[in-house]
Amino acid sequence: MGINTADDIHHIGVIGAGQMGNGIAHVAAVAGYTVHMVDISADALEKARAAIGKNLVRQVKKGQLTQEGADQALARVSAATDLASLSGCQLVIEAATENPALKQRIFADLVQVAHPDAIIASNTSSISITDLARHTDRPGRFMGMHFMNPVPVMALVELIRGMATTDATYQLVAEVSHRMGKTTVTAVKDMPGFIVNRVLMPYINEACQALFEGIASVEDIDQAMKLGTNVPMGPLTLADFIGLDTCLAIMEVLHSGFADSKYRPSPLLRKYVEAGWLGRKSGRGFYDYSA
Ligand SMILES: NC(=O)c1ccc[n+]([C@@H]2O[C@H](COP(=O)([O-])OP(=O)(O)OC[C@H]3O[C@@H](n4cnc5c(N)ncnc54)[C@H](O)[C@@H]3O)[C@@H](O)[C@H]2O)c1
Repeated sequence: MGINTADDIHHIGVIGAGQMGNGIAHVAAVAGYTVHMVDISADALEKARAAIGKNLVRQVKKGQLTQEGADQALARVSAATDLASLSGCQLVIEAATENPALKQRIFADLVQVAHPDAIIASNTSSISITDLARHTDRPGRFMGMHFMNPVPVMALVELIRGMATTDATYQLVAEVSHRMGKTTVTAVKDMPGFIVNRVLMPYINEACQALFEGIASVEDIDQAMKLGTNVPMGPLTLADFIGLDTCLAIMEVLHSGFADSKYRPSPLLRKYVEAGWLGRKSGRGFYDYSA
């Protein structure tokens, strides 16, 4: 198969079926693509399928989809624990845990089984696309495709070119993003955190630091920023949504990538991650969701 334009994309693979992976699978399936999810955890795959089903029902209730459309979208999503199930995909989007070594290993394994012409994209929040591309056999056909959380709701996909990404790859991925109903920001340089997390994560980290210093309570920091800056939720609520492990991992990439102490992760953020309090996905973060 030649894979040259968005019209050549029919099967999309998604690696990592956590909150981002299931959202990406959701919007791809609604856009008409056949979707193959892969995760090392069978439990995560089961939860992802349930989440997609639940979110499709929500869209039907809101009148955004017909019941038939939702049923067909869900029927287009399959799940497996084996990367080899992605061999028929023309585009593979990686959305596994934000850990450089883990992603590097996934790409090295993926290229052993992927179609030689397949395009590979990473949903990384912050890690160098140029460096990740080096762990594939196709840096020209590799780029960043950064969706926002929750994927079915948020309009943006931040597109990041690695140093070797070709124009054709970039245009193809931009067009697929548009077919998924997303708006893209172009000309984002491959620097740590790109645009969104370069600006957002130091803000969240500073809120953690303010809490650490006892400036105000969790609730008051969130309330102050919500009412004071007209954002829909406070920074600590947002951090719980994102996942505190992901927030810490992004701060570490900014800290080491720029070698600048202004990006030092708040010790309190690290403590929460060490405690396994990762936010909503673990039932406990700055707020308690276990009740
Ligand atoms: N959470 C956000 O708000 C957000 C927003 C944009 C981008 N991202 C990025 O998306 C990616 C995933 O984040 P998330 O919030 O979905 O995390 P998550 O913890 O919800 O899910 C990660 C998934 O990856 C799976 N995984 C781990 N190792 C794997 C492997 N070797 N092979 C296959 N699957 C593997 C895990 O089992 C888990 O299901 C990260 O790179 C993150 O930075 C996150």
